[in-house]
Amino acid sequence: MGECSPVQPSGVEINLQTGEMLEPDRIVVRRASDMRGYYADADALDQLIRERGDPIHYEVFEKPVPETPGNLMYCISKLHPGLVGDEFFMTKGHYHQIRETAELYLCLRGQGLMLMKTEKGECVAEAMARGRLVYVPPSWAHRSVNTGAEPLVSFCVYPAEAGHNYGDIEDQGFPKRVLRVKGEPQLV
Ligand code: PA5
Ligand code: NI
Repeated sequence: MGECSPVQPSGVEINLQTGEMLEPDRIVVRRASDMRGYYADADALDQLIRERGDPIHYEVFEKPVPETPGNLMYCISKLHPGLVGDEFFMTKGHYHQIRETAELYLCLRGQGLMLMKTEKGECVAEAMARGRLVYVPPSWAHRSVNTGAEPLVSFCVYPAEAGHNYGDIEDQGFPKRVLRVKGEPQLV
C-alpha cells in the first residue's frame, strides 16, 4: 500500500449555465483601481473609478489546494463587461512563475478572447465563448478580454505549484490590445 496523500477528496458545485461556483473557499476581487497602468487610456480608467465607485472588474472563485506538485488548482474566473475608453475590460494577465506549466480554460459564459504571448514576442488570440476550451501552453503569458455584454466566465485548471508572475506583464504589457473599432472588437 502506498502512502496516503494528506489532501482529502472533495467536491464543489458549479452551475454550468451561469458559471457560478457555489460556496467557494476563497474569492479574489480585482476592482477598476487595481487595473491602473494596464489600459492605454489612464484618464478613462480614472473617470470610470470616479463615476462608478470603483466597480469590480473581475473575480476569481477558488477551492484552493496545496500549491505542491501533483495537485491541480482550479477556479472560476469571472470578468465583467465594459470599456475603458475604447479598450475592452481585461484581466491583468500573467506568466506562471514556474514557466513549464500549462493551463486549461473552459469558457462557460460570455464572449471574448484569450490573449497569449511569449517572451520572444509571439502573440496569439483564441476566441472564448460558451463551450470553447482554450489551451495555454507552458511559457505563454495569458490574459482574458471580455468583448461581450455579459460576464465572461471560465473554468480554469492548472498545476497547483505554477504560481503567478504579474510583474513582467505589468512592465511590458502585451504586443496587442483589444479595442472597439466601429462597434466591433479589433486586435490592434
Ligand atoms: O490562473 C489563471 O490564469 C486564472 O485563474 C486567472 O488568475 C484569472 O483569470 C485572473 O487573471 P489574473 O490572474 O491575470 O489577474
Ligand atoms: Ni494562469
